[in-house]
Amino acid sequence: MAGDERVEELRRRRALAKLGGGKERTDAQRAKGKRTARERVEFLLDPGSFIELDAFVEHRTTEFGMDKRQVPGDGVVTGHGTIDGRAVFVFSQDFTVFGGSLGEMHANKIVKIMDTAMKVGAPVIGLNDSGGARIQEGVISLGGYAEIFFRNVLASGVVPQISAILGPCAGGAVYSPAMTDFIVMAKGTSNMFITGPEVIKAVTGEAVTFEALGGAMTHAEKSGVAHFAADDEAEALRIVRRVLSYLPSNNVDEPPVLATDDDSKRMDPELATIVPREPDKPYDMRDVISRVVDRESWFEVHEHWARNIVIGFARLQGHPVGVVGNQPKVLAGTLDINSSTKAARFVRFCDCFNIPLLTFVDVPGFLPGTEQEYGGIIRNGAKLLFAFSEATVPKVTVITRKAYGGAYDVMCSKHIRGDFNFAWPSAELAVMGPEGAVQIIFKKEIEEASAPAKREAELVKEYRDRFANPYIAARMGYLDDVIEPGETRPRVIDAFTVLRTKRETRPPKKHGNMPL
Ligand code: HXC
Repeated sequence: MAGDERVEELRRRRALAKLGGGKERTDAQRAKGKRTARERVEFLLDPGSFIELDAFVEHRTTEFGMDKRQVPGDGVVTGHGTIDGRAVFVFSQDFTVFGGSLGEMHANKIVKIMDTAMKVGAPVIGLNDSGGARIQEGVISLGGYAEIFFRNVLASGVVPQISAILGPCAGGAVYSPAMTDFIVMAKGTSNMFITGPEVIKAVTGEAVTFEALGGAMTHAEKSGVAHFAADDEAEALRIVRRVLSYLPSNNVDEPPVLATDDDSKRMDPELATIVPREPDKPYDMRDVISRVVDRESWFEVHEHWARNIVIGFARLQGHPVGVVGNQPKVLAGTLDINSSTKAARFVRFCDCFNIPLLTFVDVPGFLPGTEQEYGGIIRNGAKLLFAFSEATVPKVTVITRKAYGGAYDVMCSKHIRGDFNFAWPSAELAVMGPEGAVQIIFKKEIEEASAPAKREAELVKEYRDRFANPYIAARMGYLDDVIEPGETRPRVIDAFTVLRTKRETRPPKKHGNMPL
């Protein structure tokens, strides 16, 4: 029957599209430890939820014999499905088809799902595995990239955008992931760079491998381009799912609430033992964070880069929060260029997507030195100040120990509109530490003393007794309360609960001028 033939034809075409670049290239892909584009999508999404679109799209290039090389789908699998039951849009580049290279029609497919995702308010996930601009299409492929870049910007702050890098990602192609909210890279199989090892060798004479130049750990640890370095692509895709579990689908939705059996009134006396009495002794702020938030909910972002500040998602009574904490264990928790940039971007992300901010403070100040000054710590530190000030989501701050100098102001202080600011009894809020302070204000007196070292020690003690505590700030109302470490969880939960209906606006404007 004619009808059946037509259905057969559809099935034949669909089967052809599924073959991608053919068996040989698919085998080569697998030999590298990589899944095919479709397998990745299936692995990422809830089972059976993927609906493919544009499977029959083909390129229309005739140059370089391309008219004789047609592969339905044009090297990218696009469509929508669900993750934890919520709609997401996804594109997955197929390296077996023209090396996943991006030409006009390949770009059109990506652009189409981005446009639809913005209309319906669903996240966009990009699985990148591509040789970059399709050389045979020349400037047309550059146009295709720019159409994607433009939509990355339109979608920024409207729907979450997440990039998994699962193969090469080179040249200007890196700028689409760079404009998305999170980048996950797979160790050993992915790389990102603007110019590759050959070009670097030719131009500068420097020899570097793909992995050292642009591998997952390079970007997770050195450049900060990647938020996550996964052991392999399966883990990379699991990380994408986990990130999404904390996020709303769009900027007018609330983040998803997950049932928890962790008691919201749970006290934790152990918290009082974490901060050492000696002000210069380090501890791990993550021990504080993971004890306060819902059990098992702490999920660190940017774990390897700028480790003097920690950022990540967690839940309190099932509600997602973004957590920022100084890390006394690394560089004494000072703020520097990278840690300010790291936290500022995270704060802005949370603010875009209605995720409240919980900040833990133990900061002795900004990192001193010419490297920092020449690198623009002034401009970069200002980013974090700007980001916390700009954020209108509920903001709760807990000072565990030091809150010195400008860094006190920056770390979501009352003055830049922290909603509830708490301190532990071990907190010290001051312009600087006692040692530095007495050397400045009692310089002469110490020099002239018969026993300068003894006098200095006395003055340090005096200063510490007077100023190194939370009560002067509490007296001024800069702190809403001084709390016992053990009661931190119930107190921050109470704070966020009452803040759930918070509405705060800023003067209308086109946009601010963040110091970039
Ligand atoms: C067209 C490409 C391609 C490209 C790879 N292929 N890159 N086709 N345009 N950009 C094709 C190859 O011809 C080959 O086709 C297949 O993909 C697999 O490529 P191989 O080289 O065999 O694979 P491998 O050895 O794994 O090397 C992968 C690679 C290499 C490192 C990505 O292919 C490579 O260096 N490609 C060029 C990368 C590049 O310089 N791109 C431009 C970057 S600039 P067959 O038919 O043999 O299977 C850029 C600008 C973006 O992208 C600008 C945005 C504004």
